[in-house]
Amino acid sequence: MDTALLKVGVPREIKDGESRVALTPSAVKRLAAKGGQVYFQKNAGLAAGFLDQEYIKAGAKRVVSSAALWKECDLIVKIKEPQPKEYKFFKSDKILFCFIHLAANKKLARALLKSGITTIAAESVSNKDNHFPMLEPMSEIAGRMAAIVGAYHQMIPSRGRGVLVCGLPGVLPAHVVVVGAGTVGEHAAKIASGLGAQVTILDTRQERLNFLDEILPKNVSTLIATPESLTQTLLSADIIIGAVLIPGAKAPRLITRKMLKNVPKGSILVDVSIDQGGIAETSRPTSHSQPTYIEEGIVHYCVPNMPGAYGRTATAAFTNAILPYLEPLMIQGLIPTFKRDPGFAEGLTTFSGKLVQKMAAESLRLPHTPRTDLIPD
Ligand SMILES: NC(=O)c1ccc[n+]([C@@H]2O[C@H](COP(=O)([O-])OP(=O)(O)OC[C@H]3O[C@@H](n4cnc5c(N)ncnc54)[C@H](O)[C@@H]3O)[C@@H](O)[C@H]2O)c1
Repeated sequence: MDTALLKVGVPREIKDGESRVALTPSAVKRLAAKGGQVYFQKNAGLAAGFLDQEYIKAGAKRVVSSAALWKECDLIVKIKEPQPKEYKFFKSDKILFCFIHLAANKKLARALLKSGITTIAAESVSNKDNHFPMLEPMSEIAGRMAAIVGAYHQMIPSRGRGVLVCGLPGVLPAHVVVVGAGTVGEHAAKIASGLGAQVTILDTRQERLNFLDEILPKNVSTLIATPESLTQTLLSADIIIGAVLIPGAKAPRLITRKMLKNVPKGSILVDVSIDQGGIAETSRPTSHSQPTYIEEGIVHYCVPNMPGAYGRTATAAFTNAILPYLEPLMIQGLIPTFKRDPGFAEGLTTFSGKLVQKMAAESLRLPHTPRTDLIPD
C-alpha cells in the first residue's frame, strides 16, 4: 500500500435531521481499490441505510468516535458544514472537503482561520462547462422535493387549504408558482407539472424561459419576473416555491408581507432559497423536526438542508459527484490536483489561516487573500 496517499475519514453527520453521509460503501470500495485507506465513524451511514458491515466489507476501517476519526485521517470528507461541536478537531495539517456556506457563518469562519485547516467548499467547485457538479444534484433534489412537500402540506391536517395538487375530472388542479427558473425551479416545475398541477415559473432571464418552454410540458407557463407580474400571479397561488439565487449574495426579498396578505389563506410557501436568507420577508429557517410555521395565514416550509430528508438518494448523488475529485486528491495531494484542475481549485476556502473565497470575505468583512498568492497556478 502506498503510504503517501491521504487517509480519508468519513464522520457521522450531526446537523439536525441530516441523514446523508459523504460516501457510499461502493465509493469506499473504489478508493480502496486505488490503494486508499478509508476510515468511517461508527454508524456514519446508518441513517441513509448503509450498515457498518457494508463499509467494512468495502475495505474501510471503523472508528468509534469523531475525535478518533479526525485524529487518524488527513482528509475529512463530509456533507454539511462543521457544527460547533466539531470545531475543536480543526488542525493545520488537515483537509476538510464538504459544503461550507461560509458567507453567512462568521463563527465557523473564525474557527477555520484560527486553526489553519485547509478547507474545500463543495459548493464552489466548478467544472469545464461552468457548472457546479456537487451543488447541482442537491438543487435537483431540493427542487423535486419542493413540489412534493408543497403538495403534501396542502392537506388540511397539515394546515393547508385542502387543494389536491392534481385536481380531478371537473375540479381544477393546484396552481403552483415557482419563483426562479434555475436548477431548483426547473426540477420543481417538472415534478409539480408531472403531478398534474398548473404551474407558472418566473425568472428575470428570457433565454432561460425560452429553454424551459421547449422542454417542460404544456401545463407549465413561463413568465418574466417583475414585482407586478409576481404580485399578480401570487393572487391565485396554492403553492409557492422560492428558487431564486444571486450567486454569493443573500436572496432578494421578492415577496413582501403585504403581498402575502393577498395570497389565499392556507397556501404553502416552500422557500428553498432559505439557505441564502429566503425570498419572502416572512421566511425564517426551520428544521426537519419542525419544518413549518404559519404567518399571514400561509404555511411556510423553510428547511435549509432539504436533501437531508432523502438521505439514500442524496448520498448516492453526492458520492457520484464528489468521487471524481476525491480520488485524485487522495492519490496526488492538494497542490498537484489543484494545478491540474483549476475548477476544483476554485473550491479552496481557507488555507494556512487565510480566507480565499472573495465573496465570503466581503460578506463577513474579513481580509481576503487570493488563492494564487498561496498556491500559484
Ligand atoms: N433548502 C435547501 O435544502 C436547498 C438545497 C439546494 C439549493 N438551495 C438553494 O436554492 C436556491 C436556488 O438554487 P439553484 O441551484 O436553482 O440556483 P440557480 O442559480 O440555478 O437558479 C437561480 C435562478 O434565480 C433567478 N433569479 C435571480 N434573481 C431573480 C429575480 N429577481 N426574480 C426571479 N428569478 C431570479 C436566476 O436567473 C436563476 O435562474 C439557492 O439559494 C440554493 O442555495 C437550497
